[in-house]
Amino acid sequence: MRATTATIDADALKHNLKRVRALSAAKVIAVVKADGYGHGLERVAKALADADAFGVATLTDAERVRQAGLLHRIVLLSGFDEYGDIEALAQWRVDTVLHHPFQLALLERARLPAPIDVWIKVDTGMRRLGFSPESAAAVYQRVREIPGIGSIRWMTHFSCADDNDREVSELQMQRFSSAIGELPGERSLANSAALQAFRTSHSDWVRPGGMLYGLSTFPRKMGRDLGLKPAMSLSTRLISVRDCALGDRIGYGGTYICAHPMRVGIAAIGYGDGYPRHAPSGTPVRVAGQSASIVGRVSMDLLAIDLSAAPAADIGSEVLLWGSDLPVERVAEAAGTIGYELVCGVTRRVQFTAK
Ligand SMILES: Cc1ncc(COP(=O)(O)O)c(C=O)c1O
Repeated sequence: MRATTATIDADALKHNLKRVRALSAAKVIAVVKADGYGHGLERVAKALADADAFGVATLTDAERVRQAGLLHRIVLLSGFDEYGDIEALAQWRVDTVLHHPFQLALLERARLPAPIDVWIKVDTGMRRLGFSPESAAAVYQRVREIPGIGSIRWMTHFSCADDNDREVSELQMQRFSSAIGELPGERSLANSAALQAFRTSHSDWVRPGGMLYGLSTFPRKMGRDLGLKPAMSLSTRLISVRDCALGDRIGYGGTYICAHPMRVGIAAIGYGDGYPRHAPSGTPVRVAGQSASIVGRVSMDLLAIDLSAAPAADIGSEVLLWGSDLPVERVAEAAGTIGYELVCGVTRRVQFTAK
């Protein structure tokens, strides 16, 4: 069997949730969208069963959480898209975010078989989803009059918390609070970055995603600098080792030219597994416990590694692409992306195992 494996560490997920609890007394919506940030939805949701609720992006994911036997509150973070979704919200007991008047019109037409709890989203500056702060009170009145609506809560989303931008984030907090004024309903603002950077953003519910998986959202910081443990290790093995001569060109396009004779290992992983194709020569890996780096273009199933710094490495040696001994943020930085994208991108061809 191909050795390419994503090992998911349930204890790391639990540790990271404890870290959230240590930082905030607010209730926690554990964000498990995108298949648990690529870690496997059911596995993640079960490990995070101490959370107060789960946040998902699709009704299919909400259904999967229910089918896994979890009875928590589930929040559909981008809201429902069409009339047919409303019945599923009631059936699976899923809270929906309301961000646009078209959703109110659909709810007004619906005969709800069971009450639906809603979260009115206020756009305080992200300019993605949400009602304008000026319309919040009118939206609230309209929602309240829809028969079959259960409890009403409020949320907004930060645009620049990951850049630690206090000015923009404070402005968003102010807009949110003045939009809602004295209207009743619990509130939620903070994603991982705000939760860690701005205590005043915590309010009633926090919504961490990345930090639960051990990921840093802050530039130049690793998850471990924030007291987090990585929940995913991506590894494979060397399936070939060869001696290359000075001037040899490695891989598609021959983009890497050997500047000296070197041993090159070929690892059984490529962009078909979700390893980023745009990771350049020099992107770090670990081979047989030693630091090394990739050379040449990443291909679909394979990548090449300069073994000069890992003389003990041979066919069968373990290759770590990211995990505890190699923060995903370092790979992401080399590849011009963020750890979030890398873990979400691991494909289903990779074997997933529990640690
Ligand atoms: C509405 C909403 N809340 C919370 C989160 C969690 O963000 P993070 O993973 O940065 O904590 C997301 C993720 O993008 C989101 O879209």
